[in-house]
Amino acid sequence: MELEENRMIRPEIENAAEEKMENTLRPQNLKEYIGQNKVKENMKIYIEAAKKRKEPLDHVLLYGPPGLGKTTLAGIIANEMKSNIKITSGPAIEKPGDLAAILTSLTEFDVLFIDEIHRLSKSIEEILYPALEDYSLDIVIGKGPSAKSIRIDLPKFTLIGATTRVGSLTTPLRDRFGIIHRLELYDMKDLSTIIKRSAHILGIEIEEEATTEIARRSRGTPRIANRLLKRVRDYAMVLGDGNITLKLAKHALNTLEIDELGLDEIDRKLLETMILTYHGKPVGIETLATTIGEEIETIEDVYEPYLIQIGFITRTPRGRLPLEPAYLHMGYSYLQEK
Ligand code: ADE
Repeated sequence: MELEENRMIRPEIENAAEEKMENTLRPQNLKEYIGQNKVKENMKIYIEAAKKRKEPLDHVLLYGPPGLGKTTLAGIIANEMKSNIKITSGPAIEKPGDLAAILTSLTEFDVLFIDEIHRLSKSIEEILYPALEDYSLDIVIGKGPSAKSIRIDLPKFTLIGATTRVGSLTTPLRDRFGIIHRLELYDMKDLSTIIKRSAHILGIEIEEEATTEIARRSRGTPRIANRLLKRVRDYAMVLGDGNITLKLAKHALNTLEIDELGLDEIDRKLLETMILTYHGKPVGIETLATTIGEEIETIEDVYEPYLIQIGFITRTPRGRLPLEPAYLHMGYSYLQEK
């Protein structure tokens, strides 16, 4: 299966070359998919059972920070089910007619992947409910007293929804997914394996220590690991003989201003604001967002999960709190600054 060919609507692709690379590196089946063992084990059983019953797989909701492989996993699930996948996203479905067109274009056992599903509008969600529950589409024709509702049968299909913010999903929508999985940030071992796999596919020679160095700075995220690998390769080609050594990797990553823990300028700005401007006291996410000039959603979805995971910040009822390791990493004394 080639994801590209089956892609329907996805306007938010920033960079075509990067997208292409992501597709080249995407594992095609569960065996090739590294990490997320709990999700893999469960999905394997559900897929096998659905195949035995000759039924479509129950609807699946995947959530977690960006770049962990939700789209990849959706493609794999479709492959393992031997089904076709159609890909779209919440923001791309603007009108009820858009969703109706997509649903009526499906064939039996197709997988419909909706990325950023939390961004579907309420009126569109309501069309989705009967489609998910009874594979039917209710269409209202006309307006006012003469309006009529007709019901169209849809083929049996599987919806795979992906979101970075499961809390933003309405309860009725969430309740219609039989399978719900949270993807976790990857550990160093799994990230190293992913980097080695990618290097192999791209024909890059890389030292073991350089692999570890890139893994350490990838904030638990395969998409970042693959991006860094590609950037480091550029340095290796220009400054060296193309092989990625530890020295080269360190030089490249430092030049990119990605520190030993993978923190970038915005992470550091966030921590510095919490430590210096707000004196390490709890600070609300809205205040933080305004002070550093980032969107609340970006801080919550992209930055915070990793900073929480490495024990740099915590959430309290009164706001976000920086912890001792954050002070030390940023070069401040924990007691003195408080
Ligand atoms: N590339 C991105 N995510 C991956 C994963 N989980 N396993 C293998 N390759 C990947």
